[in-house]
Amino acid sequence: MPELIDPTVRLRTSFLAAVAEFHELGHPVPWFVTDVDPAALTDPTAFAGYVARVLAERTEAGMRPDAAVPMTTLWWAEGDRLLGRIAIRRRLTPRLRRVGGHIGYDVRPGARRRGHATAMLAAALPVAAALGITEVLLTCDESNTASRLVIEANGGRLVGVEEGRLRYLAPTPAQLPEIRKTG
Ligand SMILES: CC(C)(COP(=O)(O)OP(=O)(O)OC[C@H]1O[C@@H](n2cnc3c(N)ncnc32)[C@H](O)[C@@H]1OP(=O)(O)O)[C@@H](O)C(=O)NCCC(=O)NCCS
Repeated sequence: MPELIDPTVRLRTSFLAAVAEFHELGHPVPWFVTDVDPAALTDPTAFAGYVARVLAERTEAGMRPDAAVPMTTLWWAEGDRLLGRIAIRRRLTPRLRRVGGHIGYDVRPGARRRGHATAMLAAALPVAAALGITEVLLTCDESNTASRLVIEANGGRLVGVEEGRLRYLAPTPAQLPEIRKTG
């Protein structure tokens, strides 16, 4: 069963294979791999540095220079295979309110259309709740059918369209109605 895990050096080989898949797709590649040089990261020490940087982005002090807010990145993995990644931004800025929202995600091209993004977002919503986010803002291009379906399957309700992007709010588990116990 796939699960959310913290970024880890253990998945270096699979991470590099996933990045190669993203690059094969050409542009636009997801932002999180645009500054990743797969050739450099084959070196275990360099990869450990990359993983440390991604983990550090969870704090104000470790944010990357172009980031607006701290961000928790988690990997969706099954055994030693990296399937996707999801990033939860701790808070919103005026810009993130328009484009980006709280959560961004990608599934590696070779693992798409198997329900991974839907399951990965479902698994991430309790993490967002634990970070103090009661309702997540999710945005996606109007043309991104797959992402729309992923968000709607996770309880997202459309609250508007801005600059060609759909804006959804989705409750995190603390807000979900309790499941009635019948037993
Ligand atoms: C969007 C993305 C994360 C979806 O990942 P995925 O693992 O393939 O998604 P799922 O398998 O959970 O599919 C969700 C739904 O979308 C449908 N779907 C998946 N890819 C699709 C496509 N290319 N066209 C139309 N529908 C698609 C699936 O059939 C499924 O429908 P269902 O719920 O009716 O069965 C993936 O395509 C991706 O990484 N894209 C690039 C990055 C991106 O767009 N991220 C989101 C930014 S808002």
